Amino acid sequence: MKNKIRELLKEKPSDREVILQGWVRTRRDSKAGFSFIEINDGSCLKSIQVVADSNLPNFKDEILKITTGCSVRVSGQLVKSQGKGQDVEVQAKEIKIFGWADPSYPLQKKHHSFEFLRDIAHMRPRSNTFGAIARVRNGLSYAVHKFFQERGFLYVHTPIITASDCEGAGEMFRVTSFDLDNIPKKENKTNYKQDFFETPVFLTVSGQLEGEIYASALGDIYTFGPTFRAENSNTPRHLAEFWMIEPEMAFCDLQQDINIATEFIKYLLQYTLDNFPEEMEFFDKFIEKGTSDILKHVIEKDFKVIEYTEAIDILKKAEISFEYPPEWGKHLQAEHERYLTEEVFKCPVAVINFPKIIKPFYMYLNDDDKTVRGMDILIPRIGEIIGGSQREHRLDLILKRIKELKMNPENYQWFIDLRKYGTVPHSGFGLGFERLVLFVTGMKNIRDVIPFPRTPGNAEF
Ligand code: 4AD
Ligand code: MG
Repeated sequence: MKNKIRELLKEKPSDREVILQGWVRTRRDSKAGFSFIEINDGSCLKSIQVVADSNLPNFKDEILKITTGCSVRVSGQLVKSQGKGQDVEVQAKEIKIFGWADPSYPLQKKHHSFEFLRDIAHMRPRSNTFGAIARVRNGLSYAVHKFFQERGFLYVHTPIITASDCEGAGEMFRVTSFDLDNIPKKENKTNYKQDFFETPVFLTVSGQLEGEIYASALGDIYTFGPTFRAENSNTPRHLAEFWMIEPEMAFCDLQQDINIATEFIKYLLQYTLDNFPEEMEFFDKFIEKGTSDILKHVIEKDFKVIEYTEAIDILKKAEISFEYPPEWGKHLQAEHERYLTEEVFKCPVAVINFPKIIKPFYMYLNDDDKTVRGMDILIPRIGEIIGGSQREHRLDLILKRIKELKMNPENYQWFIDLRKYGTVPHSGFGLGFERLVLFVTGMKNIRDVIPFPRTPGNAEF
């Protein structure tokens, strides 16, 4: 059985036999005829030191030729380390080289820019930063399930191919099996009847609508899956393919929705601090100073709830000039969001009750007939991390809204049926998983917290 370096580094020196496998980070030779090899296997940030002495049969022919990037298996004894900074090291009995690394190996022991590393996304997980991000991302995925499972929510798999545009923004990627150079036509228009699904279909922008179906039967559910947006925004917080967590709760109003969202965010941050102390220390030191402190700050603070209208008033009075002037009836921009959470309230902010004209059809209409019960949660450094709402559960009002927006009610028959048969007040939200990872790690660009980013003009790997 091979051992994970993560576990070995926690042990006391015992001279016991261990086997480890991984990739060489560095090798140096001592005058006394030893070779010191640092090996990392991805199980933790730290590498373990292996000491090879010149009696090993392949010392001259192989060990002295080992370079950064080689893959090896080492068997030996876990002994007390003579060097500084580690308690244990491995005294090698046998070193097998699986794969040599060509001298062109791009990850040499020097600083590489994130832009450069993006171009070698097949190599970057072997670096300290991307290894740490991958482990934290994995831990957060687990924590998402843990949070909901502990609270009796059911995990529902919603479809990736869909005919409906949940957010109504028209930013969808088409799915077709047509030969694009030879599209069947009828009266000069695309004849979808001849396409695979016999109707226009797209990659989903959200699992919410199908989530509502299951919440309307099982109570509390959540989805956690990939979502796709064809919005052409080249920003450090947008991806064309990203992962979203969407809980949906029956018998739940906007305030309860905000409560769950708040508890959820705090839980995820606390989980990271508790389980990834080494990675957090690394992010604090090498990525962004104060990253752990800002997580603690969000955990400790109450979230401020304000009306959209109030937020616009505050922004209009602000003594700084925004690139986009704030205006009632327009979306909040990232600069506005960050100003509210970082400068004005200095804590996470839930903005509620947005003008209906800037929000999707499914949100609950307030009595003023102008605003809907939406909520966006804003956090420092990121801006919007969660978008959610209480849903319109009243049949007459959802029909009216669908008509107003000139949507085709036939395409939403099943959604309307939920309002016709045993409707309940219900609410939910979507948390952008990469924005969470961005916040937790202190990284600056969303392209660096998903293994293989999809953005305008980029679908490599
Ligand atoms: O605010 P959004 O568009 O809300 C929805 O999709 C709802 N259907 C959710 C629901 O109520 N069930 O998206 C939710 C979150 C945003 O707050 C943001 O964190 C993230 O998804 N997000 C993106 N993340 C990365 N790249 C993009 N292009 C994103 N668009 C939204
Ligand atoms: Mg939103």
